[in-house]
Amino acid sequence: MANDNNNDIMDKIVSLCKRRGFIFPSSEIYGGLSSSWDYGPLGSELKRNIKNFWWDSMTNRRDDIEGIDASIFMHPGVWVTSGHVSEFNDPMVDCKTCKARFRADKLEEARCPMKPSKSPLTCGGELTEPRQFNLMFRTHLGPVPDDNSIVYLRPETAQGIYVNFLNVKNSSRQKIPFGIAQIGKAFRNEITPGNFIFRMREFEQMEMQYFVHPDEDARWFEYWREQRWEWYRQLGLNMNKLRWHEHGPKELAHYAKAAFDIEYEFPFGWQELEGVHNRSDFDLKRHMEATNKDMRYFDERFAEKFIPFIIETSAGTDRTLLTVLVDGYDEMEIKGEKRVFMRFSPKIAPIKAAVFPLVKKDGMPEFALNVYKELGKRFKVFYDESGAVGRRYARMDEAGTPFCVTIDGQTIEDETMTVRDRDTMEQIRMKMPRIIDFLTEKVN
Ligand code: GAP
Repeated sequence: MANDNNNDIMDKIVSLCKRRGFIFPSSEIYGGLSSSWDYGPLGSELKRNIKNFWWDSMTNRRDDIEGIDASIFMHPGVWVTSGHVSEFNDPMVDCKTCKARFRADKLEEARCPMKPSKSPLTCGGELTEPRQFNLMFRTHLGPVPDDNSIVYLRPETAQGIYVNFLNVKNSSRQKIPFGIAQIGKAFRNEITPGNFIFRMREFEQMEMQYFVHPDEDARWFEYWREQRWEWYRQLGLNMNKLRWHEHGPKELAHYAKAAFDIEYEFPFGWQELEGVHNRSDFDLKRHMEATNKDMRYFDERFAEKFIPFIIETSAGTDRTLLTVLVDGYDEMEIKGEKRVFMRFSPKIAPIKAAVFPLVKKDGMPEFALNVYKELGKRFKVFYDESGAVGRRYARMDEAGTPFCVTIDGQTIEDETMTVRDRDTMEQIRMKMPRIIDFLTEKVN
């Protein structure tokens, strides 16, 4: 990749996302809304593929994990019990000089809006004493906005799983150890959102809670750390850019007995991508105390009743998508021209293959359209006949399309087509049934 500085790379990614339809600023025609983003045609496809890959590996390929889709609004008591009402705070300070607001625990990495080369600690502004700010968004359910109608937009999807533990256990007849997985929106009124889609106020989580015997928590914690590491490898990331970060006693969340983050080296530094937490029996015990519902599990193996411990894997969908964008972004100079390649794994690439007739004559477009229709029954494909074929390849490289199928003069004679690999740029001639097998193997 070119030797750009890190801000340049983020700027280039943000601008490519807008230009190619991955991600747009939210409500842009109204001037946008701070730290809110909309996924465009390529971005929504990429996001869906990431979620499907997670869902598939967590639920479809295993028989010990069930999926659910809980509502965003929950009984407000849930958030009192979970500790979010009292504990889910960030310390906040204001600058008396420029009126900007910062997280008191992240002052070194924050930038002064008036002197962007300096942090609020060194810019000369006067800061207030830190005060606690609760990150949950509050609203009212129903027409009367009083204290009795307060509800929260969920700040994590996990609680929807805990309150459904008994329902899922009883309806699915799963035996411990087993898990419940969920993908969905979460909301946090972050004091300092930013770095594109890295920290937003509305985001999506992919969370799985695994219920285990209390004596087996350490073993399952290790197991899930390994599984999650392996998932990122299969996602196609450069594993040299990933590392583990263990939470020290001061960092541990109020619910956690042990926690490790998987961190990625973003252009703006090493940052959390996913958390793997041993939540002990904290959640089910608290919900049991608050509701008087018996959350204990009777284990026939040990002939005993216990409150299960929970091993949680908690990933951000948007953060994974940003990682895939940053990790896949590549520039190369080809024949004196700077070209951009998004090197997504075929598994998650928004478009799996493009189909081109070399020229718009001699029966090539007709042949190509049939190929496009045939491949389109199985994969997300794109047809393009406009401009020089080199330009068309370049457009697809930038969209992250791993393969381009070109129909040329020889195709009309012997039905073979060239299949070009985005990363090796190799072209192999194949006929139709083989192309389907080839793409199926690569995409799965
Ligand atoms: N249930 C546990 C939990 O929510 P977390 O570490 O607060 O743990 C888990 O969040 C993941 O959710 C993070 O690793 C990150 O990927 C994602 N995430 C959290 N806050 C986010 C935000 N403001 N914007 C985007 N993603 C966020």
